[in-house]
Amino acid sequence: MSHRQITAATRLNEVRYEIRGELARRALEMEQQGQSIIKLNIGNPGLFGFEAPAHLRAAIAHNLERSDPYCHQQGLAAAREAIAMREIARGAPNAGPDTVFVGNGVSELIDLALRGLLNPGDEVLVPSPDYPLWTASVILNGGVVQHYPCHVGNGFLPDPDEIESRITARTRALVVINPNNPTGAVYPRELLQKLADIAARHRLVLMVDEIYDGVLFGETPYTPMAPLASETLCITFSGLSKVHRACGWRVGWMSLSGYLKRAQEYRHALDLLAALRLCSNVTAQWAIEPALHGPDTISALTGAGGRLQRTRQAVIDGVARSSFLDLVVPHGALYAFPRVDTTLLPGFDDHRFALDLLEHEQVLLVPGSSFNVPYRTHFRLTLLPQAEIMDEVFVRMERALDRASHAAHRAVA
Ligand SMILES: Cc1ncc(COP(=O)(O)O)c(C=O)c1O
Repeated sequence: MSHRQITAATRLNEVRYEIRGELARRALEMEQQGQSIIKLNIGNPGLFGFEAPAHLRAAIAHNLERSDPYCHQQGLAAAREAIAMREIARGAPNAGPDTVFVGNGVSELIDLALRGLLNPGDEVLVPSPDYPLWTASVILNGGVVQHYPCHVGNGFLPDPDEIESRITARTRALVVINPNNPTGAVYPRELLQKLADIAARHRLVLMVDEIYDGVLFGETPYTPMAPLASETLCITFSGLSKVHRACGWRVGWMSLSGYLKRAQEYRHALDLLAALRLCSNVTAQWAIEPALHGPDTISALTGAGGRLQRTRQAVIDGVARSSFLDLVVPHGALYAFPRVDTTLLPGFDDHRFALDLLEHEQVLLVPGSSFNVPYRTHFRLTLLPQAEIMDEVFVRMERALDRASHAAHRAVA
């Protein structure tokens, strides 16, 4: 009998998702051995005591009996109507329920949107750092990723000229993540307009991941992209996972707007791909309409005195107290992306640090290089724990950084 290994598809060689990778596996192992780990690697609100709003749960319970059949491949009519109404109210040109697709989370739709668009070798502009599913999905669908940098010195905002300089005859789409994971940047309107204009000029599909569109900390006004993009196809992605704290329900959507006339063939491709997977989870789709038409439940968490605001402040204070860290203050989303000062810690390596922190301080975070950046000086932590826990995390991190600093100086001496 042959013992040859079953090999995996070679296209997976380049695909990574370290948020749930080696370090997370090691953390689980340590938990199974009885250790208590502070896990800051995933933006999973339900794990930190947040609950989905009661009226959304009630809507699901109320409609449970109507959830047995498959629904239309694009999603329940009432849900699509509510999503389209919101897009139209925001000013998204040509948005409507016929061009809304509901999926099992935005994750499924990112894959579907790219699968319907890309031929082998087609290029997609993706931010660096990015939410790594975007890079992975481009690769898995035969595309080539062109990362455009969002420099720390520019508050992690992209430079439109740098983006434009990376466009080739093969470029098909421009991905924008706003508010941004992992950096917390919220893009100003003028910048978004420039990005929309670039997409229009080069006939790129704008893929705008706005899953954190309500998670905002006040200073920067939020501008949705769709109303700024009438001259090209704009796909807006959002869902219930973050703003409505229901990521386990797996509800996301994408809404097509802008120059739809040019997108008929692609729109049919998306419909076909949606039909091939029949439909997304029907049960949880009943929550979409009340989520979009019901009361705002996120501002109390992100506004003054709110739990997310307090934890964000604990991060800002923790960085200010640290001898080794600095931070571009996050204005939105659920993360902070601090940097280690390598003049004080020469040879710092984000992976080595994350492993040391896990093994010796029982804190799990994600090394910055997991977000497709060429440097190894940052790390990401989620703002979801209570502020007091974040204070404790910064005490432990400083201890680990102090140790690294002593080791570095011993090595030099
Ligand atoms: C920027 C971004 N896009 C998409 C997703 C996926 O969300 P969903 O739960 O809707 O699949 C996440 C999840 O963390 C995210 O951070």
